[in-house]
Amino acid sequence: MEYPLTGYHHITACAGGAQEDVDFFTKVVGLRMAKQTVLMDGSIPIYHLYYSNANLEPGSVMTTFPYSRKPGRRGSGQVHSTSFTVPKGSLSFWKDHLDRHKVERTDVQERFGASYIQFRHPSGLAYEVLEDAADNREPWTTHSKDVAVRGFHGSVLSVRETAETERFFVEALGFKKTGVDGAFHRFETGSGGANKTVTLVNEPDLKAGSWTFGAGTVHHIALWGADKAALARQKEIYEELGYTDASEIKDRFYFFSMYCRSPGGILIESCCNADDGFEKDEPKSTLGKELHLPPWFNDRKAEIMAQLEPITVPETAMSH
Ligand SMILES: [Fe+2]
Repeated sequence: MEYPLTGYHHITACAGGAQEDVDFFTKVVGLRMAKQTVLMDGSIPIYHLYYSNANLEPGSVMTTFPYSRKPGRRGSGQVHSTSFTVPKGSLSFWKDHLDRHKVERTDVQERFGASYIQFRHPSGLAYEVLEDAADNREPWTTHSKDVAVRGFHGSVLSVRETAETERFFVEALGFKKTGVDGAFHRFETGSGGANKTVTLVNEPDLKAGSWTFGAGTVHHIALWGADKAALARQKEIYEELGYTDASEIKDRFYFFSMYCRSPGGILIESCCNADDGFEKDEPKSTLGKELHLPPWFNDRKAEIMAQLEPITVPETAMSH
């Protein structure tokens, strides 16, 4: 059977303060600012900030809701960490770089034979830089090309038991199980590797994490399909299998989204680009420089802006 989703599109987390989030992703991780907009659900003004590699490729887009109004609780049934690929041999740079920025980090660790360092966002979110010589995606220019982040390698999802989440990824999303390394169970789709890997970490004694928006927790991972027909097909697959809580297809202005809660508790989005994607409301040359609201919020612009923390985006994170 052909499955409609082929890899990641974005991963969305709740950060704390907006400026510390901008500084972390642009100066520490070295991504570009791709878009400043707002959360499209509900009526409370919350930023939605997008960061990516040079070409804003699906599978490189990290997005955040700076949600300092309420902390989340990290735990199982949640994304445990998000991995970015970096070139082989670059971890010594990353150690020094993270230390220079006073970022809490681990030593070099290994999972499925790949070396990585895990480090913390100011809100407590866990990220990784993982060496992968095969990932040739175009990095943004903050760091030199021989060390810079290419895009997602994947996500590590914490579950109290693996069996039903495994079934979800295999039967509903077309992933194949490709290995077990201690508590880690690896699943890959298509050709596998960077941008096509989901890893479950079995943490049977870890209490459940929160599902609401809350600082320091990941809200969802989003997998990418070619068009709205792919999303409709994915919704059919979910429903055929009995996952009847798949949402309707929602208009997110820059893309379309459909959500389904996986059995382990992690929220999985299916999404496809809208025509012109991120360039729908600003040209490529100014992406990320200013806040843009979807048309249905334009009459509230002054009120929304007054409630958002002012942010400064470093020049190094914007198009030149
Ligand atoms: Fe999303």
